[in-house]
Formats: sequence, structure tokens, C-alpha cells
Amino acid sequence: MPDKTFRRHTITSALPYANGPIHIGHLAGVYIPADIYARYLRSKGEDVIFVCGSDEHGVPITIRAKKEGKSPQEIANKYNDLIKQAFEDFGISFDIYSRTSNEIHHDTASDFFKTLNEKSAFKEIESEQYYDEDQHEFLADRYIKGTCPKCGYLEAYGDQCENCGSTLSPSELIDPKSMLSGSIPILKKTKHWYLPLNEYEPWLRQWILTDHQEWKSNVYGQCKSWIDQGLQPRAVTRDLDWGVPVPVEGAEGKVLYVWFDAPIGYISATKEWAEKTGNDWEPYWKDENTRLLHFIGKDNIVFHCIIFPCMLKSHGAFILPENVPANEFLNLEGNKISTSRNWAVWLHEYLEDFKGKEDVLRYSLCANAPETKDNDFTWKDFQAKNNNELVAILGNFVNRVLVLLNKYYEGNIPEVGKLHEIDTNLLKSVENAPKTIGKSLDSFRFREALSKFMDVARAGNKYLADTEPWKLIKMDQERVATIMNLSTQIVVNLAILAEPFLPFTSQKIFELLNIGKLRWDDAGRVDLIEMNHSIDKPQLLFSKIEDSEIEKQIEKLKSTQAENSSEQKDIPEITPLKETISYDEFMKMDIRIGKILKAEKVEKSNKLLKMLVDTCIDTRTIVSGIAKYFKPEDVVGKQVSILVNLAPRKIMGIESQGMILLAEDHDGRLIFISPEDAVINGSTVS
Ligand code: MF3
Ligand code: ZN
Repeated sequence: MPDKTFRRHTITSALPYANGPIHIGHLAGVYIPADIYARYLRSKGEDVIFVCGSDEHGVPITIRAKKEGKSPQEIANKYNDLIKQAFEDFGISFDIYSRTSNEIHHDTASDFFKTLNEKSAFKEIESEQYYDEDQHEFLADRYIKGTCPKCGYLEAYGDQCENCGSTLSPSELIDPKSMLSGSIPILKKTKHWYLPLNEYEPWLRQWILTDHQEWKSNVYGQCKSWIDQGLQPRAVTRDLDWGVPVPVEGAEGKVLYVWFDAPIGYISATKEWAEKTGNDWEPYWKDENTRLLHFIGKDNIVFHCIIFPCMLKSHGAFILPENVPANEFLNLEGNKISTSRNWAVWLHEYLEDFKGKEDVLRYSLCANAPETKDNDFTWKDFQAKNNNELVAILGNFVNRVLVLLNKYYEGNIPEVGKLHEIDTNLLKSVENAPKTIGKSLDSFRFREALSKFMDVARAGNKYLADTEPWKLIKMDQERVATIMNLSTQIVVNLAILAEPFLPFTSQKIFELLNIGKLRWDDAGRVDLIEMNHSIDKPQLLFSKIEDSEIEKQIEKLKSTQAENSSEQKDIPEITPLKETISYDEFMKMDIRIGKILKAEKVEKSNKLLKMLVDTCIDTRTIVSGIAKYFKPEDVVGKQVSILVNLAPRKIMGIESQGMILLAEDHDGRLIFISPEDAVINGSTVS
């Protein structure tokens, strides 16, 4: 069978939750690769639609709304506007940026559910779920807090413990409490619609594990592990009053699960685009010659590779994704990006702070894209990428050519003469560039593509350095004319090839050259700009970023860190539980109350105190590492708990006979375990 050639491409990028702004992690993982790809295909003249929009449903938005005393729609409006504007200013070339609160989406999602329901694609299952009797509401997992069964953290959520990272279900929580009222929730029966993913397993094995072995290994691997672990039926409805109502009788007070309606948002967005532009949406979702691609981050893989395809498959009218080039995560200065901890570089703030430098961020994020593993963004690296690559390589080459053209020829392109070997070698590498860059792009290797693009500029710089037209200009005008003509052809090629990666720069080069935009397929040629064509005055494409600008950004992050660490006190790091011991093992410990009679610092140590304690059975010496927290005079006379049957140990030459028990808080502060009331020395503790 010949390789399938697609007539049309539907490119989706994850719909961002409208409960926070866009940050560099989203950009590097999802929106920049998707945009590069869409621009590349458009430049090749392909039929492309690139869709996105705000994901406005889900519990996090309702929580945020409650906290801020607003309605969920108000929260969604605020972030939808912010996100949409930032994407636009950053040059993300969506054909449509829609929203899941639009009527067209509610209708589309609702119809989708109805179709599946009519086909008996769901199982209706009754189960017991937590219910808040004060609020008369079933509790979403996020609305329940309790003690983590895995690590003992007191503030774990019903779906996840943020301390130990375990995935939980609400029924596992110890002492669950409703976050709405603080009351203890009861278990109450409720009915939900489940998609029986287990029934799709044989098909998924075939479709992904056999037919799509070309998927990125991180994506393929995650799918395989999900399938191998055994798929469970998934509830696609929730007891919640925010979302798309379940369009079935007897489902009052229930909405579609956000992960059911959101991916359908890609279809609704396409419909909205079609309505606005007078196009037909259906071929983009129903024609076998359309290639559907989902650009997402790794946390979305199961939804796009397993759940949504099962939905599409059981619906029957739609095509399935051809590929899902998911990326890993980007960290920021060594730490995980976090919206709630404000540990992020926000796109709208970047656009304010670095006006006109959109492409610099696009460049540094693409060069650092977490394609195969998590990656780190640092401001220093951002600065280096700008100063040492964009300014020193790309900007420098283009500028030198334009300046020399003006200087020698008043901006008119000179005639090309006889070619030397160095010229033909250069031409060969330019000729190959669109193909080799395209090959990387076709396989979603965007970093590699970008670096090959920069190789063209590098080759241009080397050509100028080797041929030295500024030295020849007095002796060999004909030769200089050839060099400058060819150099200009490289600049045109750079303008074309830059378009997917650096659209603002591409546009600017076309303007400086005073020519209209050219297409990807024009690249590789060296007759793109004619003799005597006159160009514009040169302008710098990039400018150096000074240390002071970077320092400012680093300071901003430092103050976030400082704020966080003062707030973090109530989210302590919990020491993991030790292994279980038996009652008998516990009873082996002989703990008694004693009194500190004398205390002095141990010489040559700033940590140790040597104490004489009265245990009632004896008076003994105990050495303890508490000198940083207690002065000798502060501890004398204190009643403390002592483990008296601990084997004696020598500490800095002194035999320590037992251990004084202390509590240690999260900052490492020490507090004695003392009886609440004075008791007789020698009292036992158990
Ligand atoms: N809002 C989700 C997230 O940010 C992504 C939704 S993608 C869609 O993780 F397919 F559901 F739309
Ligand atoms: Zn935990």
C-alpha cells in the first residue's frame, strides 16, 4: 500500500483551563510546537486548521470562584480574555480560539453524549459517594480533605495527596471532611454514566500498540502501561452544577465530566470557525483523508490517546488521531512550575517586560523544548540564547549582508557572476535546508529543526568570513557582486525558513528585503531575489539583553520563593512513616521522666550539650545535639523524657548514657517532650 498522503490537517492544542494564565511550561510543551507545525504546513500550502479555546468547566474553576466570591463564569471570562490576548500577541496562529462555555459547544457536547447513550455505549452504575448534608451537595474529589493513608499528611485531597504525590480516591481518606462546610460527609447513593474502557482494550491494543508504533516513545510507553495495567470503566458524569448538563431524563443536577466535554471542544471550535469563515467543518473531522493531530503535555496523554479515541470510535462518525506528539514538562530554574505557588514565567508578563522580543522566547523555548525528557528553563540560558545565538549568529549575518548591500550598491542587488567552488558548496547546503529541516519537523523534532535552521545562518556567516568581500571590494568588484548576491539569496531563504519558528523575524526580514512573503517550497532556490531589486534600510533584528534585565527577572522569582516559604509553613514536608513495629517491640523501650541537674557545652563542638540528669534510679551523663537551640542555663531544672535503656555510646570522647526525647518541627527547631504537669522523677512513659 502506498504511504497515505493526507489532503487536510486538523491540528489541536490542549484547551487551557480558564483558571489561570499561560506560562512558559504550556508554551514549550504544547503551543509553540503546535504553532510551528501549523505554520510549517501552511507555508507548504497544505490545508490546515489549527484550533484551540478555553476549557471553562471542571471543579478547579468552581473552587476558585468560591474563594473569590465570584461565579465560575466570571472567573472563566477573566482568564479566557487574558489567555486569548496573550496568545494573539505572542503570534500563536490559531484559526480559532473558542471556549467551552459557548452555546455551540454545549450543543455539540450534549449531542455527542446523546449519540453514545442511544448506542448504549455507557453503563449506568449506582455507587456511594460522599455527600455534604449541610450544603446538600455531592462532593467532588477536590472538595474533600482528610488524612493521607499513605503518608499521614492531614490535608490530602480526595483525588491526590500533595505531600507524597499519591493518587487517591475519596474513600481512602482517613477522617474525610467536606471543604464546603467543614462537616463530615456521609456516603449517599448516586447514579453515573460510565464509559467501559475495559471493553475497548483489544481494539486499543491493535490501534495503538500495533498500528501506531511510530508514536513518540514517551507517548507509546504511557499508553502501553495504561493498557497493560487493565482499563477500568470511567465515569463521564459528575454531580456538579457547573458544566454541560447531562442530556438525559433523571440526570438533574448532573453535568458531563470536564474531560468528557473538553476534547469535544476541538470539534465545537472547528464548527465555530466554519460558521465564521463560511467553510464546512465536517471534512476536518470526518474525512479519512484528514490527518488529526493533538498537541498536548504528558499529563494529558491518557485522555487524548485512550479516552477521547474511545469516545470517537464509539460515536462512529469521526476520524481518529493520526498522532499525539505529547511533550514532557519544562521546569523553571530547577523547580517544578506551579500556578498555585506562582512559580512560573507568565506569558502576559513576559510580553510586557520584553516588548518586541516575542521571538526570543519562542526561540529559547523551542531550543529547550522538553521533547524527550523534562527540561529546565533558566533566565541565564535565555539571555545566552539571545546574545550568543540570535544576535551573534542570525542577526549578525542578516545585518552584515544588508549593511554591505547598502554600502556598496546603495541597496540594489548586484549581478551574480562566475561561481567558485566555495559558492557551489554553499548553494548545496541551502538547497538541502528546506528538506532536512522539513524532515525534522515532519517527525516532530522541533529542537533539531531549529538547530538546522540556525546552521543556515551559520553557513552564511562562515561564507562571509571566508570570502571577505570587504577586502576584495577594491580589487575584484565582480567577485564581490557574486558574493553579495548569493548572501542575499541566503537571507531570503532564512526569511522563509524562519517563518514557523520566528514569525515576527521572518516578516521583518521580508520587509527589510522589500519583497512579499514566499513559501516553504520556494526555499532552497538561490534566484529568489532579482538583480537590481532595491531593499530597505537595514535594521537590527535582535538586540543584546543586558544582565540587569535578567537580574530583574531572577529577583522576581526570588521574591516569589520568599513569599512561598513564609506561606508554606502550613504545608509542611512530612517525614515518611517508618516501618510498623509490634507492641512488644515498642514495650522494649524504657522511657522515664528525669530532671536535668547540670549542663555545659562540650568543648570544640557548637552542637553538643553535656548534661547530668537525675532519673531516680541513677544520675547519669547524656550528651545531646541541642546546643544551637538551648543555652546550658536554660535547660537546668527541666523535667524531660529520657530513653534510659539505650546502649551507651561515646560522643566526642564522652560516654552518653541514654537519650533525651525532643520534638523537631519543620524548620528543625527542637522542643523538649516534657510532662504537661510536674510529676515525680522516674515516672515511666509508655
Ligand atoms: N484543560 C486541560 C489541561 O490544561 C486540557 C484539556 S485538553 C482537551 O490540562 F482535550 F480536553 F480539551
Ligand atoms: Zn500522602
